[in-house]
Amino acid sequence: MKEIFLDEVDSTNLYGKNFLNDLPDKTVIFAKRQTSGRGRLARSWVDLGGENLFLSFILKPADVFNEKFSNLTQYLSVILCEILESYGLDPQIKWPNDVLINGKKIAGILCETVMQGAVFNGLVLGIGVNLNSSLSDLETIDKPATSLNVEVGRQINLDIFKERLISAFFKDYDTFLDKGFEFIKSKYISHASFLDKEICVQTINKKNKGIAKALTEHGELILDSKGKILVLTIGEIL
Ligand code: BTN
Repeated sequence: MKEIFLDEVDSTNLYGKNFLNDLPDKTVIFAKRQTSGRGRLARSWVDLGGENLFLSFILKPADVFNEKFSNLTQYLSVILCEILESYGLDPQIKWPNDVLINGKKIAGILCETVMQGAVFNGLVLGIGVNLNSSLSDLETIDKPATSLNVEVGRQINLDIFKERLISAFFKDYDTFLDKGFEFIKSKYISHASFLDKEICVQTINKKNKGIAKALTEHGELILDSKGKILVLTIGEIL
């Protein structure tokens, strides 16, 4: 496993996408500062200062795209929850892959597929975790946000956290690729704060209100919208 350390970059995901062809499978790109972090649904990811985590995995699991790759973000959210639990916290997952503590977002995960024409080249799986952020910086985020240092009341060692995350990710990575979402489904559900609740899900061009009933074996969200059952593949719970 190769690790690349950058002092400053626009985005570790963008760097990974640009250099994907030159980098081996399982490369980890890590930056101290990100000037233009990318978020889901064309949003940005704000750099809350040094000692927060910005990291991307370069993954080349196969020559052709497999639907299981779409669940890698959910796999990573479960890995992160397990690490946060070891700090005595009760992390929750907001479908599909936001990780929250007491309703406040502590991490964001973004997976980007790299294609050359119709050919699948690989994936860049990025994660940002607020490890050491000040309350005043967290208040500048447009949605409720928190940071591990705030939750546990002490400074977090970035290097130790980073290495724990990387090794936990690769420990079961091959098994996950083989089995897919089924492999993590029960753990994912144990952290799923949205199930059996009335929610509103923003999909590409629509807001869908309903009760979150369950997850499919592929990690999709089953929503009961006034008796009409919707199976949502992408979107965001508002
Ligand atoms: C989201 O919640 O919208 C996803 C945010 C993902 C942020 C991480 S930080 C490291 C990696 N590089 C990026 O530009 N984005 C991801």
